[in-house]
Amino acid sequence: MILALDVAVRALVAPGDGERRDVERLVAVCAEHDRADPGIRFDTALNLKGDMPAWFLAEAREPSGHRRVLGVARIFAPGGDEGELSACVDPLFRRQGIFRALSSEALAVMRSAGLKEALYVADGKAGFGPLVAGHVGATLSHVELLMERKPEKILCPYCGTIRLAPLGMRDIEQASEASADIFDEAPDEARAFMESCLADPDREQYAAWSDRGLVGLVSLAEETDGWMVFGLGIVPELRRAGYGGAVLDAVITVLANRGVQTVRIEVDSSNEGALALYRSRGFAEKARTEYWRLTLDGTTAC
Ligand SMILES: CC(C)(COP(=O)(O)OP(=O)(O)OC[C@H]1O[C@@H](n2cnc3c(N)ncnc32)[C@H](O)[C@@H]1OP(=O)(O)O)[C@@H](O)C(=O)NCCC(=O)NCCS
Repeated sequence: MILALDVAVRALVAPGDGERRDVERLVAVCAEHDRADPGIRFDTALNLKGDMPAWFLAEAREPSGHRRVLGVARIFAPGGDEGELSACVDPLFRRQGIFRALSSEALAVMRSAGLKEALYVADGKAGFGPLVAGHVGATLSHVELLMERKPEKILCPYCGTIRLAPLGMRDIEQASEASADIFDEAPDEARAFMESCLADPDREQYAAWSDRGLVGLVSLAEETDGWMVFGLGIVPELRRAGYGGAVLDAVITVLANRGVQTVRIEVDSSNEGALALYRSRGFAEKARTEYWRLTLDGTTAC
């Protein structure tokens, strides 16, 4: 049955309090129905295109005049030429073109913001990725695993050999050079990313030092029910010497001492070295997120 609903998509740079409540309600309904995380995040610190409309609400006007949010899409540009797109549609109103309408508006905004590629973000458990891909012609780019463990205090054989030093904006040159080296990024991309990390009040950025100099980087961010470890990396010439394990042991110890209940870390499923390291430290897979890539130039997807 197709309902003749009057649905319109409204684009916003940021949701107001009422809109945020509507989105949270919808995300909770979708998460419960699908038993999956639709990946709609409110954190904007790492969005490098802060003035781009990032929220798209598909709203139906009810006979009372009340606007009800039936679908939401959220985009953000973490760096480079890519924009990530997450979306969810009220389970009662699926298969009526709402995702298509949201996606079409979001892609148009990404194109006009100069982005070259869109990455559709899909929970690997829910099986929506291949459906979306079929719709818009996206192909699977990569899969990220969310790994988790409890941070009970651990024996920390290398804790004596490394020291974690907090980084601030005054360290931007050194931090961006290290980041470009470790993650093999272009210098301007590494700098833009590091600037947003250092400016984010919810993130702690550290450099790891040993008597051999700067060995690596790692950052920590608090979430509602635990802490997330980001950007763990060791300079290429010091890999396979125990420093990755030492840095991870050190941050787990720091978090255990704070009484943190859960530590999480995200890793590309093809990064075998990092996966082996995290498994060796007791991290187990909790979720997987698929990224489906669509080239924006000249496409008329949706
Ligand atoms: C992943 C990374 C942090 C590991 O750092 P590292 O200092 O080389 O790790 P360690 O020497 O402490 O290794 C500890 C254990 O992890 C595993 N491991 C690490 N690198 C590995 C690799 N390339 N292949 C297989 N296992 C590996 C091994 O089990 C290793 O123990 P072992 O050497 O006794 O076999 C490092 O390779 C790196 O910086 N990579 C680039 C950035 C990156 O991908 N970060 C992860 C983001 S999620």
